[in-house]
Amino acid sequence: TYTRIYQNPLPIPPVKQPKQIITNPVTGQNIQYYEIEIKSFIQQVYPNKPATSLVGYDGISPGPTFIIPRGTESVVRFINNAEQASSIHLHGSPSRAPFDGWAEDVTSPGQYKDYYYPNYESARLLWYHDHAIHITAENAYFGQAGAYIITDPAEDALGLPSGYGQFDIPLILSSKFYNENAQLTGVVGEDTNLWGDIIHVNGQPWPFLNVQPRKYRFRFLNSAVSRNFGLYFVKTTATNTKLPFKVIASDSGLLTGPVTTPQLIVAVAERYEIVFDFSAYAGQQIELRNLDDGAGIGTDEDFDDTDKVMKFVVSNTPVTDPSTVPSILRQVPFPPSTNGIDHHFRFHRSNSEWLINNVGFSDANNRILANVPRGTVEIWELENGSGGWTHPIHVHLVDFRVLARWDSENGRAVEPYEAAGLKDVVWLAKGESALVEAHYTPWNGVYMFHCHNLIHEDQDMMGAFNVTNLPN
Ligand code: C2O
Ligand code: CU
Repeated sequence: TYTRIYQNPLPIPPVKQPKQIITNPVTGQNIQYYEIEIKSFIQQVYPNKPATSLVGYDGISPGPTFIIPRGTESVVRFINNAEQASSIHLHGSPSRAPFDGWAEDVTSPGQYKDYYYPNYESARLLWYHDHAIHITAENAYFGQAGAYIITDPAEDALGLPSGYGQFDIPLILSSKFYNENAQLTGVVGEDTNLWGDIIHVNGQPWPFLNVQPRKYRFRFLNSAVSRNFGLYFVKTTATNTKLPFKVIASDSGLLTGPVTTPQLIVAVAERYEIVFDFSAYAGQQIELRNLDDGAGIGTDEDFDDTDKVMKFVVSNTPVTDPSTVPSILRQVPFPPSTNGIDHHFRFHRSNSEWLINNVGFSDANNRILANVPRGTVEIWELENGSGGWTHPIHVHLVDFRVLARWDSENGRAVEPYEAAGLKDVVWLAKGESALVEAHYTPWNGVYMFHCHNLIHEDQDMMGAFNVTNLPN
């Protein structure tokens, strides 16, 4: 057991600085060049036990945060000085296929690879993480994940709470198991799910954060291997009353307008950004809690303290708060509408294997499950065909609109905060199916789509689609 709940401060990942500015020989524009070293390190997670061995980007976990202005290209050299192969995926970026972290495109220990990112997308929270074939879960679990923020002037002009680490704070969630020597356990050989009993935010179990009585922007990223969160805020003195807050952005950036909600489901790999206003709670303590059982609609296994996430200690000193949350945030570029279902993918378990339409990623001759003419808008039906399990489904390259969700038993609809923006992950809870609509641009290439429960992904619940030139 971990006895220091809410006793350690929330760490903020440092901002990654470019090593050099280089000039793109074709466009004449500046490119920010970075170097990241993947290496092992130790961190004191349990106070009276040995330090925990981890492996992370620049030797920290989460890795350093990139903050990049829209339209500035970047090249990141990932130098693998760890003991295992790596492949790096910038999740949410329409990267060219050779820089997308294809699972078999691994960099061995002692080697490096330069990844090029276009960064032309509107402001949003992306994340970079390992994607190496069959060891993604292990690599991510031991620390290979970090935040990558794109900013843009349109978002800056809105007057949202701002200042990285000050009033704009990443909250990167994960959930892990440790053995009696405080070493990570549970990932090697696991073939269904790794729930974890210790909840971390930015690498620290159950931290606290001192805040002022004003508005804060929090950027949630669920980097857990399997655990899904159903987040809500309560006063420590009244834990039955969920306090409302505003969701302002999802996987692909700002929503059309803020969605006020008492709780927010953040499945594996999803990002949601919220504004929480502490001004009514001066001098009080607010807890961020987690609904039991995978947001109450999943199958996640619960432990003593998995209903807790972190605590906010609100100061008593009044402050002026210049920030606002406008009622219109942006015109979301939803794909032009189309109709008819172009592809139907069933995510299921058969003969102890996690598969899509009976195919696993190891089946190299059959794993391209769709050919998509470049420039077309397609609707895909994603079906959870695995009974009691749940699956967060991620499609590389594109942002999609969640058009519909249904379920033979409960009929959970698309959540209002899902419908108001674009996404790249949709969670299929027990018995659920969803329709997602995306514009397959701008590049040709073979890209992956998969379940982002990393145990399922590693064990083959992954396929590919091939974006090709329009047929003549
Ligand atoms: Cu975040 Cu293919 O992954
Ligand atoms: Cu899955």
